This record gives sequence, C-alpha cells and structure tokens, in this order.
Amino acid sequence: MNHLDLPALMLAAGTVKLPGSKSISNRMLLLAALAEGETEIRDLLDSDDTRVMLAALQKVGVGVTALGSNAYRVVGCAGVFPGKEADLFMGNAGTAIRPLTAALALSGGHYQLSGVPRMHERPIGDLVDGLRQIGCDVRYTGNEGYPPLEIFPASVDLAAPIRVRGDVSSQFLTALLMALPLTGKQAVIEMTTELISKPYIEITLNLMARFGVMVGRDDWSRFTIPAGQKYRSPGLLHVEGDASAASYFLAAGAIGGGPVRVEGVGRHSIQGDVRFADALEKMGARIVWGDNFIEAAAPAGKLKAFDLDFNHIPDAAMTLAVAALFADGKCTLRNIASWRVKETDRIAAMATELRKLGATVEEGSDWLAVLPAPTFTANAAIDTYDDHRMAMCFSLAALGGVPVRINEPKCVAKTFPHYFDAFAQIAAPVIAIDGPSASGKGTVAQRVAEALGFHFLDSGALYRLTALAAMRAGVALENEAGVAAVAASLPAEFQGEKILLSGEEVTEAIRAEEVSVGASKVAALPAVRAALLDRQRAYRRFPGLVADGRDMGSVVFPDAPVKVFLTASAEARGERRYKQLISKGMPDNMQPLLQDIVKDLRERDARDAARSVAPLKQCDDADLVDTTTLNIEQAVATVMGSVHRKLPIIN
Ligand code: DC
Repeated sequence: MNHLDLPALMLAAGTVKLPGSKSISNRMLLLAALAEGETEIRDLLDSDDTRVMLAALQKVGVGVTALGSNAYRVVGCAGVFPGKEADLFMGNAGTAIRPLTAALALSGGHYQLSGVPRMHERPIGDLVDGLRQIGCDVRYTGNEGYPPLEIFPASVDLAAPIRVRGDVSSQFLTALLMALPLTGKQAVIEMTTELISKPYIEITLNLMARFGVMVGRDDWSRFTIPAGQKYRSPGLLHVEGDASAASYFLAAGAIGGGPVRVEGVGRHSIQGDVRFADALEKMGARIVWGDNFIEAAAPAGKLKAFDLDFNHIPDAAMTLAVAALFADGKCTLRNIASWRVKETDRIAAMATELRKLGATVEEGSDWLAVLPAPTFTANAAIDTYDDHRMAMCFSLAALGGVPVRINEPKCVAKTFPHYFDAFAQIAAPVIAIDGPSASGKGTVAQRVAEALGFHFLDSGALYRLTALAAMRAGVALENEAGVAAVAASLPAEFQGEKILLSGEEVTEAIRAEEVSVGASKVAALPAVRAALLDRQRAYRRFPGLVADGRDMGSVVFPDAPVKVFLTASAEARGERRYKQLISKGMPDNMQPLLQDIVKDLRERDARDAARSVAPLKQCDDADLVDTTTLNIEQAVATVMGSVHRKLPIIN
C-alpha cells in the first residue's frame, strides 16, 4: 500500500495560493460549452474531476484548447452538442456526471455514462426521475437509481413543474437548472423536500447569470427559468480559489499558531464554503478577511468545543471534524446526512479514523460527535477510502505533535494534486541558518540536516550556479533581466554532494574565485532574487528543511520556527578560509596573505549588509551563534540546542 508519513508537527504559518475551485471550474466549463461564443477560462482547477469534464466535453464535440497556465478556450456549441453518439467515462466526478446527464438528456443524442465502482453506488435517481417527468429518455443499465446510464433522444414537455427532492444532493437541482435553458421554454422546478447545501445553488445561479440566464427563486422551494433565454459567453472568466481546499490551511493556522493566509478567495467569494471561517471563529480562531484572502490564527488558549449545524458547508465541515480533536470538549456536527453519499460514507469513515487517534466518537444517521482524547495516539495509519477530503483533513492530525501515516495519499488528485506540497509550505519545519561567508554555516547546516534527517538547501549554491550559467551563456552579469531569465530556468540539479548544471558536474567549478565574485554581483540584483524565490521555497518538504544563506530567515522563510544567525569574527573566518586554501595544496608563491583574506571578508560583509535587497542582517527572532571560539561539533550542538528549544517535539 502507498503511504505518506507525516512527522510530528506543532506549528503552521505562512501563505498558500489556492488551486481553482472544483465547483466553479466544472460549472464554468459546462456553461461555456453550452453557450454561444468563445469563453476563455483562467485559473481552472487542474485535477482528476476537471479532466473528466474536459474529456467528456471534447468527446461530445466541444472545442476545448489548453492555453497553458491552467487557462482554456472553450468554443461554445450554442446549446447543441455536435457529437450525437458518445460513451463517456466519468470517473468519480459527481460535479461532472450530474449536470452532464441533464444536459445530454436534452441534447437529442444517444449517450452512455459510467464511472468507477464507487460512482455506481452514488444515487442519481432523483435527477433521473426529474428528467423523466418532462419526457427525457434516461435508462439505468446497472442498478435502478444509480449510474451507469444510457440516454436516448426524446421530446420534452415542460407544461407541468418538475418536482424533485432536495435532501439527497443539491447537485440534482444544479444539473436541472443548468440544463433546462437549452429547451428555450419556461421551466419550473419545485422541491418536494427541504433543499440541502443551498450555497452550492447560489454558485450555480451566480454563474448562470454571468452567462446571461436569470432564474426566479421563491424562497428555496421553487425555481422558475423564464422562456427564451440563451447562454451567451461573457468572454473572459477567472475561477476563484477553492474555498473547500482553503479549510485545511485555515484550520492549520487555527491549530498551529498561524497566521496562515489563503489567497484566491475572500470576502466577496461566491462559494458558500468560505463560511467555514465563521465556524472556525466560533471555535475561537482569529480570522481576518481580505478582498482576495482569508487568514486564520490560533486563539490565546485552546480552541473551543462546538455544536453546530453544517448543512450549508458539508464539504468544509469535514475539516471541523478533525479540528475537533484540538478542542476543549465534545464537538457535535449536525445535519450532515449528505456525507453518507459522497466519495465514501464520510460519517462512517470519519468516525473510524478519528478513533484511531484516540478520540471517542459517536455517530448517527446525520450527525457525528467527537470527544477528543487528552493526547493523540501516535503513528495512527489513516485510511482514506479513495476520498480526497479524508486524506487532506487528516494531515491536520500531525499538528497534535504525533507522527501520522496517511494511506493512499494520491487520492488528493481528485481536487488538489499538490496538496501535501502546499501543506508542507506552511507546516514542514524550517531551520533557517544565515550568516556571513566563512562563518562555517554551510558545514553546520549540513550536519544539522543530517542529524535531523531533514532536507538541505544551500541557497548560496543557487546564486553561484546562476552566475556560472550566465557567464557560460555570455550574459553580462550587469544585465539584470538577462541574468534573471537564466535564474528562472536554471537547469541545476542537486544529487547528494554533487551539483550539476545541464547534466554536467560543477561542484568544484562553482567555488572558483571568479564565480564567487560573480555570485556576489548577481545576488545584488532584485530580479534575480525574485526569480529564485519560489525555487528555494519548494525545498520546504516533509519531514523538514535546513536552509543556509543570507536571507533564509528574513525573506525566503520568514515563518521559519527556528532561525539562527551564525557568525564569527572576521579574523577567525579569515583563518578558516586561509587553512582551507592551504589544504587545497596551493603553491607557496600563489598563497594569499591572511591579512588580505580578512580585509576581503570585511569588504564583502559590508557589501552584503549594505545592499538594498535582502541585506545580510540578524533577524529579531534569530538566535545568535558566534563560532569564533567553537569547533564544528560545538557549533552543531549549539544550533541543535536552538532546534530543541523552539521545536520540543523534535528528538
Ligand atoms: O554562501 P555562498 O558563499 O555560497 O554564497 C554565494 C553568494 O550568494 C554570496 O555572494 C552571497 C550570496 N547569497 C545571497 O545573497 N543570499 C543567499 N541566501 C545566499 C547567498
């Protein structure tokens, strides 16, 4: 079995850029396909569920072009799919199969829709009943009430209202609402039972309006689509960040200190799941709303227990079931019956897995109560049931200070393929070691990384590699844009001790004097520093990172829980450098004078400290380690002392 071991964690802070919303992505794709005109959709979610929708639309003849960077151009078919015969595989994507079933049932073609075995256990009967009421010919080819389905051409009659249940899945209503304008006639939908997950219907109505179709709504029980409306492309659209995905990071901020900021959603979001932040606030978390961000930080004391109705945020509520492990008492989640028909039976799955962490859990048909244990059970192996949200939710349990194993973690690809990388960006511990050259920080950092089993980033090597690559490509080191372009696409690779550039070993070459001088020049260029920023941050992975440089604590990892400023007197550093040069076997007449080396180091320190971007300086929250009188072992032991003081869970 595939698994991911998360280390014991205690802190989470930082910023995450959210992937596009699944609900918005798949609705926009279908509406763009049904509209008149071309639509460009930017920031589309790249995931299994959107790929299912894209592939299905292409199979029924809709022109879809990938423009790169998650942008797509969709050539709308003005309500009539060109492909009249298709066999469509829908994976486990509820947001694809439901609206497509309705749209295809009104398209006058012959289609088959099937999915993975779990999809064939997820009910679709209420939608099919609704479609049959108006004359659509939709048949079950497996079990009654469930996919797979076969659809035949039929003529529709909208004289009477369509009566449909609202208490199983709001996606049935969404499917009907999006498809019925294809008839061009007035259509009325009446709910026979109370509608759940209303915010998802708001997303549907909001997006239909952007494509020019207005829907009348009487309370939440009756919807009227006036005759004669057609979807028309609004041209360019942006997909908001995924508010359900935001829940994991916001919860991490509320549990692990924070602040954690998610970018891509904010106070004007059309997604109901942003209301998750309100529930977190009720637990005591400190929440800040921006136009395009939400931020969460922990309360002064413990998170408070809750007893809340989550009908309006069923997906994000799963995150609260895991956040309950950190509360000061029993937490009850109510009105969550829809969990039972999602990717898995989420009430049963959640109860089983929370118990593995030591919690006492009770469940009912539509509720779950979680009583946290005083301490978390370490090394729980969490099963994920091919449910992306189970995998993402339970990553938070590691913040209880215990290692947690996540089985089959790749199921996150359904909506968030890089989830664990993003989680590492706020939760994987970073030990930032900055200081002047020849302070010994490179060796110390490497030894600390080895002792902890952490990843290691020698950020100076990236500046050296940039200088060498620019010199080799004939780019003048003063040419800021040119050198930045080299830095942005640096073909560098680190293989243990070996450093490669375009496949050629340059471990020694980047330490040559002219490259050192070049590195110091390119490191002063703001565009070069910006180009290397994300690359450096990508080194932050589980179980943790030791990063060595000049601005690790101040710029690259400002949220690093452990920051060390490692220095030594210029004389001591000069002597170390001198001994290093001698040990390399330089002929006597070539050897520099110790005093020249010291002078050179002093000048370089002054330059590094005076430059306008990321100057070398000790951060306020960094521990000062002066190695003037310390040997390597003593310096390593001093840094490890800082690590254990700031991150007591690391042993
Ligand atoms: O640590 P080093 O000597 O390998 O660094 C090479 C150059 O890059 C040096 O001039 C300082 C600069 N540098 C920087 O500006 N910021 C970093 N984080 C690391 C190195």
